[in-house]
Amino acid sequence: MKSNQYQMILDAIEKTGISKIDITRKQTSAYDEFHVRGRAVSEELFSKIELKPNSQVLDLGCGLGGSCRMLAEKYGCKVNGVDYSEQHIKTARSLSKLVGLEDKTEFVQADATQLHYPSDHFDLVITQHVQMCIEDKTKLYSEVKRVLKKGGRFIYYDVLKKSENKLTFPLPWVDDEADSFLISSHELKNELSSLGFKKMNSEDQSQKGLDFLSSFIAKAKDKPMILTGQKILMGDNALKKITNLYQALKDGIIRLESGTYKL
Ligand SMILES: C[S@@+](CC[C@H](N)C(=O)[O-])C[C@H]1O[C@@H](n2cnc3c(N)ncnc32)[C@H](O)[C@@H]1O
Repeated sequence: MKSNQYQMILDAIEKTGISKIDITRKQTSAYDEFHVRGRAVSEELFSKIELKPNSQVLDLGCGLGGSCRMLAEKYGCKVNGVDYSEQHIKTARSLSKLVGLEDKTEFVQADATQLHYPSDHFDLVITQHVQMCIEDKTKLYSEVKRVLKKGGRFIYYDVLKKSENKLTFPLPWVDDEADSFLISSHELKNELSSLGFKKMNSEDQSQKGLDFLSSFIAKAKDKPMILTGQKILMGDNALKKITNLYQALKDGIIRLESGTYKL
C-alpha cells in the first residue's frame, strides 16, 4: 500500500485535465471503490433498498470510503466508515473533504470486530470485500447485530469459498494464505441465521465479476495507465493480484456474492 495515497489520487485525476476544485465524487470513485466492478456494483446494491435522508449507515472495512460518499451524496445518509488501516482512514477523510462531503461522512480507525458505537444505532450496515480478511466471523457479525437497530438491514458483497482447491497468492486483499479467511456461502448463511438475521435475498455476482475482470485485464495489458488506481491501493503487483483473482473465479475456487439480511 502506498503511503501518500491521497496525493497520488489527486495527481492521477489532475493528469486527466481536471483541476482540484472541480473534482467530484464520481471522479474519485475510479480510485476509492476497492471491490470488483467498483461504483457500478455499489449503485446496484444500494438502489435495491429503501434509504431515507439521514438514515444512519455504517460501512465496515470502508477502505477509502467510496461507498460511504455515494450513500451520503446520492441518498443523503449520515455515514460512518470504519477501517483497520490508519492510512485508508486518513485518505478517506481527505477525499470527503475534497468533494464537500465531510459533514455527512465520518471515518474512524478501528477493528470491525470491536466497535465503539452504541447498540441499536444504525439503520444499515454494509461490508464489501472485507470478511475474507477477518478470522473471527462470529465476532464480526455479532458486532453487526449489536449496532443495528431492530428491523435494520445488513448488506454484503463478498468473496466466498466455492471449492477446497488451492488459491494462488497474492490476491487483492492479501499477500499470502495465512491472512485469508474465506468461508462458503452456506457457512455465511449459517453464521448470520444463527445470530437471528433473516435472509431477504442473495445474488451470485461471479459471472458479472468474470466479465468485468477479463475485459479489465485485457485493457490493462494494452494500456498500463488504467492500473493507476489499483496500484495505489494494492501496490506495484496489482495486475498479478487481479489476474489471480480472475483465475480463481474462473476455476470455481471462489465466488462473488451479494446479499441482504434483516434483523
Ligand atoms: C478489499 S478492501 C475493501 C474496502 C472497501 N470496503 C471497498 O469496497 O472499497 C478491504 C478493507 O478491509 C479492511 N479491513 C481488514 N480487516 C479489517 C478489520 N478487522 N477491521 C476493519 N477493517 C478491516 C482493510 O484495511 C481494507 O481497507
